[in-house]
Amino acid sequence: MITFITGNKHKVIEAENIFQIFGVKLEHIDLGYMEPQGTLEDVAKFGAKYACQELNKPAIVEDAGLFIKALNGFPGTYSSYVQDSLGNQNILKLMEGIDDRYAEFRSVIGYCAPNSEPKVFLGRVKGQIAHEERGNLGFAYDPLFLVPEVGKTFGELTTEEKNQFSHRRNSLEKFINWYVSQDDE
Ligand code: IMP
Repeated sequence: MITFITGNKHKVIEAENIFQIFGVKLEHIDLGYMEPQGTLEDVAKFGAKYACQELNKPAIVEDAGLFIKALNGFPGTYSSYVQDSLGNQNILKLMEGIDDRYAEFRSVIGYCAPNSEPKVFLGRVKGQIAHEERGNLGFAYDPLFLVPEVGKTFGELTTEEKNQFSHRRNSLEKFINWYVSQDDE
């Protein structure tokens, strides 16, 4: 059983589905904490350490973001704030006239057990910023994030479809493989 700390219900739904694929049980606790400024890795390490100290048991947290190449990685570590303040339509305005639409989502899982140092697991997925919002599934930037191989945005994919190759799938899969291998030792 793994404890996932998040206040984001979309992340919970996706993580539950991914853990199910690997046959690992997940419980969810919403434990608010101040995120420090820093990289995704810094935030995930800090959150994992804080959570396992508070709960006195092993826990994972996730910090994620959308990195747009032509905007020098913006909104990146500010993704949550920018989504709430600017929103997708203003991102599209920033991208007007820009041909290089490359973007990637990154997800970093932070894991910590009591009395040990946190570990991090990075997952990425490559895509393009669409020219308009497409689809109403998923959350936040999903309708903007076009996956060229599929010809659809994350907003047009069901949770199960997105979970086949998303940044969150990749970071959680790395974490689960490591976590399960610990049991064998
Ligand atoms: P976090 O909650 O601090 O990890 O902030 C991540 C922010 O990045 C979220 O609030 C979303 O705005 C955005 N984000 C992260 N993952 C996704 C995703 O899978 N789809 C859409 N937006 C995402």
